[in-house]
Order: sequence, then C-alpha cells, then structure tokens
Amino acid sequence: MRRKISVPGKIEPATPDDLDRILDIEGESSPNPWRKSFFEDEITGRLSNIFIFKGSIKEHISGFITFRKIDDIIEISNIAVSIIDRRKGIAGDLLSFMKTFAVKEGVSEIFLEVRSQNTGAVKLYEKFGFRFSGIRKGYYTNPKDDARMFILDIN
Ligand SMILES: CC(C)(COP(=O)(O)OP(=O)(O)OC[C@H]1O[C@@H](n2cnc3c(N)ncnc32)[C@H](O)[C@@H]1OP(=O)(O)O)[C@@H](O)C(=O)NCCC(=O)NCCS
Repeated sequence: MRRKISVPGKIEPATPDDLDRILDIEGESSPNPWRKSFFEDEITGRLSNIFIFKGSIKEHISGFITFRKIDDIIEISNIAVSIIDRRKGIAGDLLSFMKTFAVKEGVSEIFLEVRSQNTGAVKLYEKFGFRFSGIRKGYYTNPKDDARMFILDIN
C-alpha cells in the first residue's frame, strides 16, 4: 500500500510515557474507547504488542496498533490514527509493519473483527489484502452492530 502524502516517521513499541497521547487518539476514534488499564495491559502483556507511529516533526504520536500473537496466529485488537493525520497512509504503514513482524515470527494468519458500519476501516483492510471471512450478528453494543471478520493469510 502506497501513501498519497508522505508522512515521515517511525514505528516503535509504546511505553507508559506514551499512554496519555494514545488515550487522546483512542478517545477521538472509538464510540467505546478503551480504558487506560487496557493499554497498560497491552504494554506489559506477554502475548500483546502495542506500536506507535511517531512523526519525525517533534516526534508527535499520530497513531497506534495493538495486536496479540498466540502460537502462529495474530489478532489485531485495535488500530487508530488521530483525526488530523488520517488518509496519509499511517494506518497502512502500521499494518505493513505488523505484517513484517508476522512474517519474521512465522505467523500463518492475521485476523480481526470490525464494526460492519465502519466503512473506512473495512476499506482499509480490503485494500491491504484482508479477505472477508464472515459476520458475527449483534457482536457489538453501544451502538448495536454486527462484526465483519477478516483474515490475512501469510505465505
Ligand atoms: C480506520 C483508520 C485507522 C484509517 O487510518 P488512516 O491512517 O486514515 O488510513 P490510511 O491513510 O492508511 O488509508 C489507507 C486506505 O484505506 C482506505 N480508507 C481509510 N480510511 C478511509 C475512509 N474513512 N473512507 C474510505 N476509505 C478509507 C482507503 O482505501 C485508503 O487509501 P486512500 O487514502 O489512498 O484512498 C482511521 O480512520 C481511524 O483511526 N478510524 C477510527 C478508529 C477505527 O475505526 N479503527 C479500526 C477499528 S477495527
């Protein structure tokens, strides 16, 4: 996936110092934002991973991805980009980073669930090569929504 606008930056593991900024991005991105303790668990958990995209200018955090690796499968549990930095290819970069991580770790499959009404995220995953694998009816509450499930096979 190629960026339309270049955003120079780097992707690195999040630390506790990054949590306030991550919570700001989460707050503007989700109808049911994760609590701070959820992100703390992602930083400390044995199976979990949380990476941030830091722009080169002032090292400002623009987005993050969280995922869990269990055996040879990865589940993406969250991904968000701050509103002012969207449609600049940052989520695509975070997914590419995670895919490289998956290849290195011998992962065979990456999967995720997304709200069916979240058309932007659905388009992102489709563009990245994820294939639709099914629907979970009424999976989400507040607001009620179905989950669309996607899988990316790693060769
Ligand atoms: C979904 C989200 C992470 C995308 O982040 P982003 O950095 O803007 O995505 P990218 O710029 O990498 O987009 C890559 C491609 O995905 C698709 N896409 C991304 N957002 C889109 C939108 N709002 N509408 C339509 N297509 C979209 C496009 O094909 C885009 O390529 P293009 O800009 O060349 O058309 C961001 O909108 C976000 O944080 N949303 C709120 C949180 C969320 O929904 N997370 C997903 C939970 S499963």
